[in-house]
Amino acid sequence: MPADPNPEWARRLLDELRVIDMTESPGLDNLHYPSGCIREVERRAEKLFGSARSYILVNGATSGVQASLLAARMVLGARSVLVPRNAHRSMMTAMAMSGLEPVFVWPEHNPNLGGYLPLDVERIKEAFEREVARGGRPPKAVVVINPTYCGFARNLSEIAEITHASGAILIVDEAHGTHFKVGRELPPSALDCGADLVVHGAHKTTVAFTQTAFLHVGPSAPERFPGLIPAVEESLRAVQTTSPSYILMASLQQAIEVLERDGGQWVNRGVERACELSRRLARIPRLSVVGYDPSNPVPPGLMHDPGRILVNLAELGVTGPQAARFLVEEKGVDPEMVGLQHILMICTGADSEEDIDTVEAAFRDLAERCPREHSSQFDVSLLLGEAPRPARVMSLREAFLSMAEAVDLDQAAGRISADTVVVYPPGAPLITPGEEFDSATVEYITNARKAGLNVLGRGVHSGLAETKVFCVRSSN
Ligand SMILES: Cc1ncc(COP(=O)(O)O)c(C=O)c1O
Repeated sequence: MPADPNPEWARRLLDELRVIDMTESPGLDNLHYPSGCIREVERRAEKLFGSARSYILVNGATSGVQASLLAARMVLGARSVLVPRNAHRSMMTAMAMSGLEPVFVWPEHNPNLGGYLPLDVERIKEAFEREVARGGRPPKAVVVINPTYCGFARNLSEIAEITHASGAILIVDEAHGTHFKVGRELPPSALDCGADLVVHGAHKTTVAFTQTAFLHVGPSAPERFPGLIPAVEESLRAVQTTSPSYILMASLQQAIEVLERDGGQWVNRGVERACELSRRLARIPRLSVVGYDPSNPVPPGLMHDPGRILVNLAELGVTGPQAARFLVEEKGVDPEMVGLQHILMICTGADSEEDIDTVEAAFRDLAERCPREHSSQFDVSLLLGEAPRPARVMSLREAFLSMAEAVDLDQAAGRISADTVVVYPPGAPLITPGEEFDSATVEYITNARKAGLNVLGRGVHSGLAETKVFCVRSSN
């Protein structure tokens, strides 16, 4: 018999939740102009994270990213923004919405560490110098993704210094680092390093429900950029619903309470469990856990969130998608992220000893059966290097808003992309609106599909047999 898609227990749970599914009625405050209970929660967040202002978000970290770029444009009249190429796709729509054009910077790429690492200060300096040498106006906004999806982070103080020295605003997409402020042995929080706007995907590493997030204004940002707070607030009104879910907002309040409790005990427990799991996985022959294997250390200058367990499968002779299929379908273990040769697992305070045992046993079985049953048919070397760098030939905003048409991928070389095509997660774009498809990019997307990676775009995702890409219409 097929499983009941709406079982009795779920119906009962929904009925109970309905009792607190409020709307903005008297006494319940207003997300867009908070002065009562919502403002109270935001004040607690300000105290906990050490921000000048904190906002609770119900449209995901995506809305925080979009509001940050809109606010940067409103406050500084910025025309361009320095963005790492491994930015999440929300950054592409944020640029299209704000009209800020990207100055992409390619971070260091290390296939043993899961791909792109966080931007370093030297690359940011060089990008500023290049823009000045080209006679253009230097970017007035700098974005960094810290930590990366795989958990690599840097101390951002130096990046904040050089950003501020050029009069620009530093926006940190810390979607995966909400817990940094409270846990032990974690990379420093961006708000403690001089960042001006910081986005937290609260649902990713705290008990807050899916879809929740925070946007914070750095402690010294209002002094540096007068007008920033009203611009951020108006930008949030533009990208957030006027009917926020009180269920989501209440879960953010609970997340703050949990983080505040006992010096971040919930976070520390998750880290301890993650370290224990990492040690156990590292003992399994032919599995390598980053940071736990002398041949796969965390490089100097970088830090790694110990709550993220990055397992390298290179010696097993299987790809990440093959291993993930085994773990999900045969063991009921759901990885956080699947790369070409990596599996990323996350542990939080919500995970139990039994969860750790289950994951360890699943990886043991995987290692024992490989490569007997799962030998890779795919030549991973085709995708191990950096993705190609297609040339920009049109403004990102213009291409995004243009009339577009679906084109067969193998016919796309020479056409201008209207779309962002990403391998998700982590979602680093292979092409963005306004860039021209070249044969290397076409080949890379074809191979990523063949390898079973999750390639997403308007005309390509796992539910579609054909691979189309959306290009700017020739007769626009
Ligand atoms: C680095 C980064 N930024 C932003 C987002 C968007 O987060 P959300 O799904 O909460 O909108 C994600 C999602 O995975 C992400 O990885």
